[in-house]
Amino acid sequence: MRIGILTSGGDCPGLNAVIRAVTKKAIHQYGYEVIGIKDGFEGLLFNRHRKLNEMDVSGILTLGGTILGTTNRANPYKYPVESNGQVIYKDLSARLIKNVRQLKLDCLVCIGGDGTLSTTHRLSQQGVPVVGVPKTIDNDVKGTDITFGFDTAVHIATEGVDRLHTTAESHHRIMILEVMGRTAGWIALYAGLAGGGDIILIPEIPYDVSLIAQQIKERREKGKNFTILVISEGAKAAGGKVSVLRMVKDGSEPVRLGGVSFTLGLELERLTGIEARNVVLGHLQRGGSPSPFDRILGTQLGARAVDLIEQGEFGNMVGVKENHLVKVPLTKVAMGSRLVPSNNSFINDARALGICFGD
Ligand code: F6P
Repeated sequence: MRIGILTSGGDCPGLNAVIRAVTKKAIHQYGYEVIGIKDGFEGLLFNRHRKLNEMDVSGILTLGGTILGTTNRANPYKYPVESNGQVIYKDLSARLIKNVRQLKLDCLVCIGGDGTLSTTHRLSQQGVPVVGVPKTIDNDVKGTDITFGFDTAVHIATEGVDRLHTTAESHHRIMILEVMGRTAGWIALYAGLAGGGDIILIPEIPYDVSLIAQQIKERREKGKNFTILVISEGAKAAGGKVSVLRMVKDGSEPVRLGGVSFTLGLELERLTGIEARNVVLGHLQRGGSPSPFDRILGTQLGARAVDLIEQGEFGNMVGVKENHLVKVPLTKVAMGSRLVPSNNSFINDARALGICFGD
């Protein structure tokens, strides 16, 4: 067997743990050959790859990022090409599939988020033997209870909340931490709870700014002169719009969110008379060394992916359900993002403690 492995979409801590586990197990246990594809699907379109041996993946478990490189602009079904000075989008999937065959790959392991895994699913439908491994700090891939990268991001965001706490208290301010997550509020919810945030705003629960201002004033009346607010980049006011930072033309997901904490801070300052400051945590959440949990999860998922290949279980990804590794058909992943459900027990428990969700 000769297997290809690639990482695609935004990077996240733990990718190297998966690459290492897939490569080591494939070689050590099954005697396969492993080809590392560079920069996601782009490497398959333009033949950028190299053979990986056990030494190539030795010492990478603790490293953030991905040794293979990645891009979130190389959707083979909508690939940007220049024509007469203009960018047009072409379906280059046939070329990619031809290259997979020329490389004599018996299976392609694709590590990515919902965009990458949807592309992987399409390739599978066109006859390419694939196995998926879900990744993203957002924790929003359907078919799995958790993705690696999320735990590390929550650690970093929680440290952010902790650090804002002391300065908020000293200056009697409203401090707002804006975290990533796209349309899902998992990072804000977990970091908000872990850091003891007073107000947590997530995309799944549209907020009412006057209600939040009221909550802050009530805290002041009780003697709490500061407030910690954790907001997800995709949160929005009821009836309002998400805050778009920029559009990424060539991406499969063109909208880049960001900046909601700026406008919210100004509005809260106006409504409460209390000074507010905001911090956008941004890509710090995706960088650096993975947490022990993400190293272990990445290793387990990678090792299990190789078993799926050995069993000929193509067209699936490896996921986690109720603490067990499971095989999940890629059709499931192609069905959109996994959002925080309204009956999430963490939210109910938090509400009982007086934490405000802005509604
Ligand atoms: O999906 C992961 C993620 O980090 C999101 O949380 C965020 O909205 C987006 O990627 C940022 O993408 P980029 O790296 O292209 O700015």
